[in-house]
Amino acid sequence: MLIKMVPSVLLVLLVAAMAAMAASPPKPVDVPFQKNYVPTWASDHIKNINGGNEVQLSLDKWTGTGFQSKGSYLFGHFSMQIKMVPGDSAGVVTAFYLSSQNAEHDEIDFEFLGNRSGQPYILQTNVFSGGKGDREQRIYLWFDPTKAYHSYSVLWNMRQIIFFVDDVPIRVFKNSKDLGVRYPFNQPMKIYSSLWNADDWATRGGLEKTDWSKAPFVASYKGFHVDGCEASMPNSACPTLGRRWWDQKAFDDLDGLQWRKLKWVRNRYTIYNYCTDTVRYPARSPECTRDRDI
Ligand SMILES: *[C@@H]1O[C@H](CO)[C@@H](O)[C@H](O)[C@H]1NC(C)=O
Repeated sequence: MLIKMVPSVLLVLLVAAMAAMAASPPKPVDVPFQKNYVPTWASDHIKNINGGNEVQLSLDKWTGTGFQSKGSYLFGHFSMQIKMVPGDSAGVVTAFYLSSQNAEHDEIDFEFLGNRSGQPYILQTNVFSGGKGDREQRIYLWFDPTKAYHSYSVLWNMRQIIFFVDDVPIRVFKNSKDLGVRYPFNQPMKIYSSLWNADDWATRGGLEKTDWSKAPFVASYKGFHVDGCEASMPNSACPTLGRRWWDQKAFDDLDGLQWRKLKWVRNRYTIYNYCTDTVRYPARSPECTRDRDI
């Protein structure tokens, strides 16, 4: 009896392992900074180090800076490793986002709000569709983002947009077209990053001001990975309809482990969620009914 059970136990384990594997991204695709990105403004505040493998942005009293991808993408997986401004970074915001930059624009945002030395950063995320944002969520991180590089990434396909910090999904925005919510699906986006002074709102709601005696403020970047559908490609088959890994069925939804991780973030690290802010948004956005399942 016992012997007969062993194979089925193994089978269950095997199936479970395969299911877990199905949803893990393959080897990341390097899209090196120097060939694929250009400064958005203040190019003299962007420095290449380590043979061009790392980039540093700096902010001083006069200006911040930023860069953007040359290519535009419609769906894909986008990631970057960032080490945030260390020490006293109150008032300083570091951002990594995808944006279509037109009148009714789509945008997927990570914004890291600095703080006084030893005080925690806040990660604010937002999603714009057809020019409408107002979907802020805020969390604390479970590590100090200034001590080491961590990867921040977005998976965007026709079904969902997932925000990841390392391999932890911190937010998912489902395609809720069925509920009348616009979903980013037809406007290619570029990848952006920037560093700027936002001491009118960023830290403790603007109470903590940037201490310019600590300038320049420096954020570091490496590991530029893009595995997406480049919009400019001739005869490009965007949307790729199941031909790329991030477009497969396994990525229509989070898997079980990812749901548990997201729940963990929700329970322990959430500071703010527009879905529960009935003061600011008395009429809840329709997609928030899905948010409640988490
Ligand atoms: C900064 O630190 C204060 C005090 O710990 C905290 O209330 C706040 O949420 C932190 N982060 C930001 C970005 O304000």
